[in-house]
Amino acid sequence: MLIKELALRQFRNYKQLKLTPHPGVNLLFGQNGAGKTNLIEGIHYCALGRSHRTSQDREVVQKGQAFAVCEVKVQKGGVTEEISVRLTPDEARKKQVFIGKKRAARLSELMGLLQCVVFSPEDLELVKGGPGERRRFADMLISQLSPAYFLSLQQYQRALEQRNALLRECRRESDISEGVFEAFEMKMAEALAVIVPKRRLILSRLNELAAEKYRNISGKDSEAFQALYQCCLREDANIAEAAAERWKNARGEDVFRASTGFGCHREEIRLTLNGREMKTFASQGQMRTAALSLKMAQLALYEEKTGEMPVLLLDDVMSELDMNRRTQLLRELKNVQTFVTCTDESDLQGCENRRVYQVAAGEDACAEVTETSEGEAAAETDGEKDPIFL
Ligand SMILES: Nc1ncnc2c1ncn2[C@@H]1O[C@H](COP(=O)(O)OP(=O)(O)OP(=O)(O)O)[C@@H](O)[C@H]1O
Ligand SMILES: [Mg+2]
Repeated sequence: MLIKELALRQFRNYKQLKLTPHPGVNLLFGQNGAGKTNLIEGIHYCALGRSHRTSQDREVVQKGQAFAVCEVKVQKGGVTEEISVRLTPDEARKKQVFIGKKRAARLSELMGLLQCVVFSPEDLELVKGGPGERRRFADMLISQLSPAYFLSLQQYQRALEQRNALLRECRRESDISEGVFEAFEMKMAEALAVIVPKRRLILSRLNELAAEKYRNISGKDSEAFQALYQCCLREDANIAEAAAERWKNARGEDVFRASTGFGCHREEIRLTLNGREMKTFASQGQMRTAALSLKMAQLALYEEKTGEMPVLLLDDVMSELDMNRRTQLLRELKNVQTFVTCTDESDLQGCENRRVYQVAAGEDACAEVTETSEGEAAAETDGEKDPIFL
């Protein structure tokens, strides 16, 4: 999978950017605050319709502007697809996604068109943070493989919010409206019947791949890493029926605590090293290796499931990795279009198939991107000179 063109307009500190990236490694270097992560974020918007670092779309629209646009031209299996995401600072107005020239009716239509895996320093939270961090990782991963999964997640989330609102209302009114509960629980059960089998299938393979990646990075067979999906239901249960029964029986208890205690929003992916809880047992270095292994496993999983390599986004991770992990990561970069940000160009020594861009803040504080690599890297593309704009 290749991004042939990237365009940003009124997005963060980019007034207007048009880039024809290298099919190998695109190294973006520049000072703190220059706009490197913003560029990565723009690509992430085109892949998932959302940022990898904020849930507030309005934050990314340039101050004083009515909208921001992120666009890519993606080449995949000989076909080129155009994706455009238009964001507004107005909460009430939804973001608009265009695929080709056609407006997508649902965000789920975007899923999988541009698959990306992002590494950032915050990834350590995957290991150190709460179960929500790991669920979010799993959800973004599976959504990019299955639009049906993403659609079901949305349905589940909406119905869960409605059920929770009803729980709070019942607590105030001390009256349980059984019929309304049933309607929401049916919606949740229906969605769960899609979500759980996908999580089981994909996370089980992710676990195998992550264990292998961990062994490769650590170089130690004595360290066995596992990422174990803890499903809310037993293997042999009929998902929709069993879940609906659980919610029905728990209504009284749930009203008391004003939240839904059972469901896939409470599930966990347990990370262990030699059978012991990573979070309390592992060293900092081991936790870093675990986070990196999960991301590399994600990359391998996409290739396995789709036959295409996703686009890799490495935000500020090089300086955090020791030589061994860096070498392992660089090995993975072969045949993957990669966007790497760093403050020092030398952070990516040893990586050949690349093009270097300098990102700097211009006079008006807007980002300017300039290609600085020598001819040899540029010559590997189709010969076009990169049009780089303000
Ligand atoms: N909505 C916005 N409108 C205009 N500028 C913005 C907006 N949001 C963020 N910025 C600017 O973008 C810059 C930060 O960009 P970014 O996070 O990409 O930096 P960076 O190059 O990744 O830096 P670092 O090396 O510290 O990670 C800041 O100068 C900030 O003021
Ligand atoms: Mg940054």
